[in-house]
Amino acid sequence: MSLAIQSPEQTITIANLNKSYDQAVKGELHYILKDVNITIKGGEFFVLLGPSGCGKSTLLNMIAGFVSKTEGQLKVGKHEVHKPGQDRAVVFQQADASLFPWLNVRENVEFGLKMKKVSKAKRQEISSHYIELVGLNGHEKKFPRELSGGMKQRVQLARVLSNDSSILLMDEPFGALDAMTRRTMQKELSHIWRKTGKTVIFVTHDIQEAVLLGQRIGIMSRGPNSKVTDIYDVPFQYPRDPGQQDFIKLEKTIQAHFDHEYTI
Ligand SMILES: Nc1ncnc2c1ncn2[C@@H]1O[C@H](COP(=O)(O)OP(=O)(O)OP(=O)(O)O)[C@@H](O)[C@H]1O
Ligand SMILES: [Mg+2]
Repeated sequence: MSLAIQSPEQTITIANLNKSYDQAVKGELHYILKDVNITIKGGEFFVLLGPSGCGKSTLLNMIAGFVSKTEGQLKVGKHEVHKPGQDRAVVFQQADASLFPWLNVRENVEFGLKMKKVSKAKRQEISSHYIELVGLNGHEKKFPRELSGGMKQRVQLARVLSNDSSILLMDEPFGALDAMTRRTMQKELSHIWRKTGKTVIFVTHDIQEAVLLGQRIGIMSRGPNSKVTDIYDVPFQYPRDPGQQDFIKLEKTIQAHFDHEYTI
């Protein structure tokens, strides 16, 4: 169905995973996430869809290694996740959380490459490519405080794509973008994924975006005790057409799922 390459060392195994921020009170914990079970195959494009506050960012940040688990299993390949790693790149929901305020756009984009000791000429070449891709050429010398929310989000995207990690963890990455840039970025991300075989976990509120991009869509229930309750397979060829009948039908099915949840 896709050209993505399956790689077992990137498989993400989540079993009986729980997260609580509380200390035990009278022997009981208040769980944000309870009994999350999913296996995301290496090379897969997996979408997490769920209501606001259910724990999508928490789950993504646990996979990233920024938030610790309370109980259960969370593995990338054979290794339990304890901390962030170069194999996993994160696009945060809040761009401010990840940009260095003292570095300009180009320096922010090149930061990871510099850490990896990539030569200056190569860094320039890579960063120019992705800065252009996200439509920030001409803004290379600006600092984060001089950028709009959507522009900051695009700097994050350019940086993550430049770093070339094998696993991309993306938390509503296109939420702050205007419709046109959003569509361009969706197409480009899908194209990059198909070309490179990266594993992508993509969080969104937007059902159409989920159906446009994902091979599978995991639906999270409302919190507390949120879990992945259902997984939809998206059997359509890429690139996908949101105007196509089967596409719209699946969108409606997923929408009905949420309408049903909310009436309970
Ligand atoms: N550091 C924290 N300490 C305590 N509770 C937290 C913390 N971070 C998140 N939470 C709680 O965990 C729950 C899930 O939050 P999270 O940000 O993961 O939701 P989300 O699904 O990403 O929501 P949204 O779609 O609005 O971004 C919320 O009830 C939130 O209040
Ligand atoms: Mg969130």
